Amino acid sequence: GIPSLAQAYRGRLRLGAAVEPGQLNAPEGRLLAAQFNSVVAENVMKPSRIQPSENEFHFAPADAIVDFAQQHGMTVRGHTLLWYKRTPDWFWSDKDGQPASRDLVLSRLRQHIETVVGRYKGKVYTWDVVNEVIDPAQPDCLRHDQWLQVVGPDYIDWAFRYAHAADPGARLMINDYSTTLPAKRSCLQRVVQGLLARDVPVHGVGHQMHISIFEPAVAEVDETLAVFARLGLENQITEMDMSLYQRHAYLLPDSVDRLLPVQGQRYEALMKVFLSHPELTSVTWWGISDAHTSRNAGWDWWRSDAPLLFNSQQHPKPGYWGALKAVQGL
Ligand code: G3I
Repeated sequence: GIPSLAQAYRGRLRLGAAVEPGQLNAPEGRLLAAQFNSVVAENVMKPSRIQPSENEFHFAPADAIVDFAQQHGMTVRGHTLLWYKRTPDWFWSDKDGQPASRDLVLSRLRQHIETVVGRYKGKVYTWDVVNEVIDPAQPDCLRHDQWLQVVGPDYIDWAFRYAHAADPGARLMINDYSTTLPAKRSCLQRVVQGLLARDVPVHGVGHQMHISIFEPAVAEVDETLAVFARLGLENQITEMDMSLYQRHAYLLPDSVDRLLPVQGQRYEALMKVFLSHPELTSVTWWGISDAHTSRNAGWDWWRSDAPLLFNSQQHPKPGYWGALKAVQGL
């Protein structure tokens, strides 16, 4: 067989992958356990999935992932405690169907976080406490969603405080996409500095890293990591994948045979940057193999992408060899 990537990175970076419970007992589950030492639920820990109606918690799918991790000596990332896209609707109205007050929404948030973080205390070592709260198009840098409208900007502070109270040992992250774009990066920095100034228990930044073979430049990735390292924070790469396409193009720029080595070189270059950052502790891919990737769903369902380290037959791609080379060269 091929070397275990997680083994090769042991002592330097924790390597993980996102998974749906149904994949655990499939061939992908074996690849997951062999090549990675960390796992995150692609969907089943999101608020709308874990508490679809008030005080009705659906833990079984998330438990299956946590149990799998424990059986295989892997750590678990928790994703996510608060995300505007997956906040269940019941959060926003009271028992009479009237708009929920700030106090009611905050008490529901506290209840949700206490219950979920409490259940996985000591089992989930890090949480994406808030996901995608930054919007560089707004003067206050915050996404103008229901959380901001109903609670106000301190909903972020409260989410971190509730999570910290429920598991003081957990590493608490603010997670977002496109953190390598200068406007997004400086907004994120501003918001994080505010949290630190108010003594909010935030420990680090999660960088999703849904990128392509074209962008962003490796130097921009390096600079983004450096910004948060200078604040004394931990960095984690939380949702990595690398499209072969340019933005929303529907044709590949070249044949897959020629693009996969390009992807491999870029994975190698990125892993070298990650390895050069002592404050960066983990890299998690948003999927195990190209057989199941969110880059072939959602907006991009109509094109066939191959963004991960293993192909849809679970065989290593140039990206895998690039990642291996990056650590073996040290
Ligand atoms: O499971 C149901 C299935 O029963 C149903 O037939 C089908 C019809 O739509 O939907 C299925 O649920 C889908 C689910 O993925 C599981 O495949 C949802 O519609 C779909 O919205 C959901 O998309 C997920 C998305 O987050 C929204 O929650 C993706 O799988 C997941 O990869 C994606 O992950 C996000 C991160 O949480 C945050 N950052 C971006 C990242 C990628 O988009």
